Amino acid sequence: MLHYRAFNVSVFWTLGLLYLGSVVHATESSLACPDWPTCFGTMMPEMTGGVFWEHLHRLVAGGLVLLFGLSTWLAKTATQDRPWIFRACLAGLGLLIVQSIFGGLTVIYRLPDLISTTHLGLAFIFLALVTVLASATGPLKTFERHLGETADRITILASAGAALIFLQSLIGGLVRHMDAGMACPDAPLCLGELVPPLVNSTITLHFTHRLIGIVAALLIIGLSIWILRVSAPKPLRLLGLLAAALVVTQVIIGFVSVLTSLAVIPVSLHTLIAAGLLATLVRLATLARLSPKSMSSTSELRAG
Ligand code: HEM
Ligand code: HEM
Repeated sequence: MLHYRAFNVSVFWTLGLLYLGSVVHATESSLACPDWPTCFGTMMPEMTGGVFWEHLHRLVAGGLVLLFGLSTWLAKTATQDRPWIFRACLAGLGLLIVQSIFGGLTVIYRLPDLISTTHLGLAFIFLALVTVLASATGPLKTFERHLGETADRITILASAGAALIFLQSLIGGLVRHMDAGMACPDAPLCLGELVPPLVNSTITLHFTHRLIGIVAALLIIGLSIWILRVSAPKPLRLLGLLAAALVVTQVIIGFVSVLTSLAVIPVSLHTLIAAGLLATLVRLATLARLSPKSMSSTSELRAG
């Protein structure tokens, strides 16, 4: 069970790291360390001003590599009956190395929009992967009844929801890095209109992000209500409700970000909640996927 605990800590560590990364950008600390992998030629720079956030982000990223490496090592023998787990761990380690290189490239090439947005995207892909691992290696839990085809539907719908949130997050990354965050400076309307004149790419990008955000919120609320109506087991119902609560909060924080002219706390929370929402949907999909398909008086599920 140690590997399961280590995967869970990795999930929360990654969420913390994502939040810190967002703070790095929001506090304009991204180039506070002008070099990489060292900061001003040392691994122990003076932790003041922007260097504090940028170097802290790097140190916490280093901690994640160690923690995930330990989780992989623990999982290697404990999950021999399911070799895909170890293979997924190796993919995760590779992803972390690529991600760290992209972090370095954002600094070396002085924050090109596409590299910064890829850095965000890779962070979300790693989070999804480690969430699958944490969800698939949990303790056995008993379901009060079997789910049959409903399980497959929950898996498909929650996976589709996760894919939509990932896409929306990439668009959000572009909004941020192309400085389109205040292209609509008002809320809830955009330039005083329900549909603004789409005269340039920043307004179009910003408006598309708002629109997809609201559509995604309605779809995820719908999914959560449907999961309640089919009387899915409690852990799945709770995850559905959590996803609905997070998506509503996310839309509100998006508007608050605009109304506060992109203040550090709301924009950083906006990244964190997007990540939390993605992890919740991935966990929902994974738990439903792992539920037994055949009828028995009780059904067992790994994790809960
Ligand atoms: C040593 C390795 C790393 C370095 C040098 C690094 C560097 C940076 C820098 C400079 C930024 C600000 C980018 C900008 O303003 O455009 C940033 C943001 C960020 N970093 Fe890292 N990073 C590293 C590792 C990681 C890892 C391992 C993760 C997650 C798995 C991560 C997640 C993030 C996120 C989510 C952001 C915010 C991106 C955004 O706002 O769009 N970083 N990082
Ligand atoms: C499901 C709903 C939503 C999700 C998952 C989402 C996700 C994101 C993500 C991941 C980012 C990039 C953060 C980063 O690079 O670190 C972002 C940026 C942004 N989002 Fe959203 N968003 C959603 C809805 C909204 C809504 C409804 C608004 C309303 C105005 C909004 C306003 C913004 C703004 C202004 C930015 C740029 C922040 C900046 O420049 O720092 N978002 N969003």
